Amino acid sequence: MRKIIVAIDGFSSTGKSTLAKQLAKELHYVYVDTGAMYRAVTLFAMRNQYIDNQYFDKENLIENLNKIKLHFVFNEEKGFGEMYLNGENVEDEIRTLEVSQNVSQVSTISEIRKKLVEQQQKMGTKRGIVMDGRDIGTVVFPDAEVKLFMTASADKRATRRYKELLDRGDKDVSFDRVLKNVESRDYIDSTRLDSPLSKADDAIEIDNSDMGLEEQFDRVLSLISTRL
Ligand code: DC
Repeated sequence: MRKIIVAIDGFSSTGKSTLAKQLAKELHYVYVDTGAMYRAVTLFAMRNQYIDNQYFDKENLIENLNKIKLHFVFNEEKGFGEMYLNGENVEDEIRTLEVSQNVSQVSTISEIRKKLVEQQQKMGTKRGIVMDGRDIGTVVFPDAEVKLFMTASADKRATRRYKELLDRGDKDVSFDRVLKNVESRDYIDSTRLDSPLSKADDAIEIDNSDMGLEEQFDRVLSLISTRL
């Protein structure tokens, strides 16, 4: 059967990665979480004091971009590729609320986007890939055979994210902080100048505010089978 590209874009915490992992497993495709790449660059910037809550030294970060090497290493047990920053597994560290609070700022920088988009496009040369992010159907793979655009209410998304952070053992987190983060990321991601989050003309919108995971998966899978 021919291999295609499935591009999944949408607002933060809309369950893009859950759906992408389900699809990749079912189709025996590679799953690529591009948000993890922007998060890893953000972690690098935080560790080197280029960014914190008060300031952002863009010039220094851009100058030092060549010191950032990103790789995915497939974890057999988890069934997906984990994010490595300069040889170190940072999969857990990139998911904290602190990284989430800085990542949208870092993602506005064109030099960073250019570097990551190139790497993402290389991963898709053989197709057979499910990639999620914000600009996959519009910039990274405008020729993707299946494009999905996922939305859900901010409240539903913050509730999911809050639960996820509690499950990870983050005890200092409050629902209000998570909701504010979801709303501010929506705003920055959709209004930035370079590759803002927007629905591609040929993308199918899925609002999963009131949709179960199984129903969503079945709907998308039947859509994919029509394109294969
Ligand atoms: O998918 P995520 O929430 O882990 O993504 C984290 C941030 O990275 C998101 O707020 C915006 C940015 N991002 C991006 O600009 N382009 C992508 N393709 C993926 C993520």
